[in-house]
Amino acid sequence: MSAYIIEGGHPLDGSVRIHGAKNSVLPILAACLLAPGECVIHNCPELSDVAASLDILRHLGCRAERQGDAVVVDASAPTGWDVPDALMREMRSSVIFLGAILGRMGRAELCAPGGCELGPRPIDLHLGAIRGLGGRITEDGGGLRAEGALRGADLVLSLPSVGATENAMLAAVCAAGTTTITNAAREPEIVDLQGFLRAIGAKVHGAGSSVITVEGGVPLHGGSYAVMGDRIVAATYLAAAASAGGTVEVTGVDYRHLSTVSAVLREAGCDVQSGAESIRLRRDGPLQGVRPVRTAPYPGFPTDAQAPLMAALTRGKGCTVFVENIFDSRYRHVPEMVRMGADIRLEGRVAVVCGVDRLHGAAVRAKELRGGASLVLAGLQAEGETAVTGVEHIQRGYEDLTGELAQLGADIRQEER
Ligand code: UD1
Repeated sequence: MSAYIIEGGHPLDGSVRIHGAKNSVLPILAACLLAPGECVIHNCPELSDVAASLDILRHLGCRAERQGDAVVVDASAPTGWDVPDALMREMRSSVIFLGAILGRMGRAELCAPGGCELGPRPIDLHLGAIRGLGGRITEDGGGLRAEGALRGADLVLSLPSVGATENAMLAAVCAAGTTTITNAAREPEIVDLQGFLRAIGAKVHGAGSSVITVEGGVPLHGGSYAVMGDRIVAATYLAAAASAGGTVEVTGVDYRHLSTVSAVLREAGCDVQSGAESIRLRRDGPLQGVRPVRTAPYPGFPTDAQAPLMAALTRGKGCTVFVENIFDSRYRHVPEMVRMGADIRLEGRVAVVCGVDRLHGAAVRAKELRGGASLVLAGLQAEGETAVTGVEHIQRGYEDLTGELAQLGADIRQEER
């Protein structure tokens, strides 16, 4: 079993180049299936979810290989339309292939999505969008089948789901006629997907706003595209500096994608300076509790940054209220932080964090990606040794968390136990 071993108490100092965004590259890799030619995706992070997406593309009959920081996908002649159970289990977000497979192949078969870590993750909005475009979907215990020729339609999402917006965009590109997606998610990753779709010839506009329009059925071609920097990884390193103290600069990200995170860290007492493609955070004195942090769809405070911020505030002066509005079960890091001496009370969607003078090292377990990373951040500021197991969850979203934190001056290593 792998564990991250952290000896707390070392301030951080230095610069980290942020890798490409996991949540951009997954739908972009699914979108590669639509292009009858070679697609080159630059700044593609080396993550287990990316490897799983490449496995799915290969299973579907595409050529998919890594070349340095890029991934090359050739979907000139796909042969498959199903994603078998083993591949679905490798990646929770593999449902993102539904719209693309159906659009390109005229039918799709997916086993029930696996790897559920944040409580039940419904896909009703994904299915509603596909049905709205004319897809016929049948579900049984083992999975779902979709078939039918797609045609443009006016789709309205009852809430701005990121994944459902992406699935709808991918299917709409293949649907004859015009599709509008109203109450679309406005996350930067949706804008990135639109950028890639345009690079392969699709006619999509409006991403970043609540209404996206797709002129479907136009001929597509191969293309190349560079994925944006991962704003959540950047938020994690900023929160790491806020946790451990010191100065950290993150580069390769758009500071505007992190405006709500930067604002809260400033309120907590950090000095945060933004350049066009970088953010620098300095923390000297103790942090202070901040006004309630309510997670919300973009541009609100991201649910994925809730746990890293909480780790930083475990030793802030005063109390902070967190309200998690996006997912149930997104406080699985809390009992582990409490084992390290944090004072956190939970009541449904609300967590109240009151700063303590010190955390102590403990053996803790990562149960999901961002909560897992937040335990590492807690370890950076704890007295003594922290051992974080369940590191496979963390590795889903960070190329080299331990290596980069060590480079910044943390005492952290990976061990087999
Ligand atoms: C994506 C991100 C994830 C992030 C989340 C919210 C990827 C791969 N993952 O997840 O890191 O935390 O956005 O920013 O991009 N919902 C439904 N029915 C559906 C779909 C969603 O009720 O069909 C609900 C979910 O239960 C949740 C909310 O909508 O409460 C938001 O989920 P959604 O935006 O879809 O998140 P994901 O795309 O799964």
